[in-house]
Amino acid sequence: MKAARPRVYVSRRFHFSAAHRVYNPAWSDEKNAEVFGLCSHPAGHGHNYELEVVIAGTPDPDTGYVMDIARLRDLVEGKVIRVLDHRNLNTDVPFLSGQIPSSENLIVALWNQIQPLLPEGVELVELRLWETPRNCFVYYGETS
Ligand code: NI
Repeated sequence: MKAARPRVYVSRRFHFSAAHRVYNPAWSDEKNAEVFGLCSHPAGHGHNYELEVVIAGTPDPDTGYVMDIARLRDLVEGKVIRVLDHRNLNTDVPFLSGQIPSSENLIVALWNQIQPLLPEGVELVELRLWETPRNCFVYYGETS
């Protein structure tokens, strides 16, 4: 009989501030204003984003950890948050290049950046991105 392997979820919350203008460059300013409202104001605006990263795995018998959460913190802070914090999402972030910096597109791009950072046996299961204290975007990875 196979031994039971407990699956434990571990979550870490990150913070970054960034500016963006949500607009479609193929459209006129008038059409952008009509579709995106204040979000398309040409001078842009900022958000204090909160990002929650949820991973899952079986605790390692030698450490009791799914993954050292300090390592998760350092990896995500160093490789992802540092690239976003106090930047303009329209112009400064290579992995958002050519995309409308909506929170929907941002959370998918964040997934694609974070997933390859995780060690073998540790799975990225959920991202939660708060654009404001009231607006939250949730992503579980691509649907097949
Ligand atoms: Ni916005």
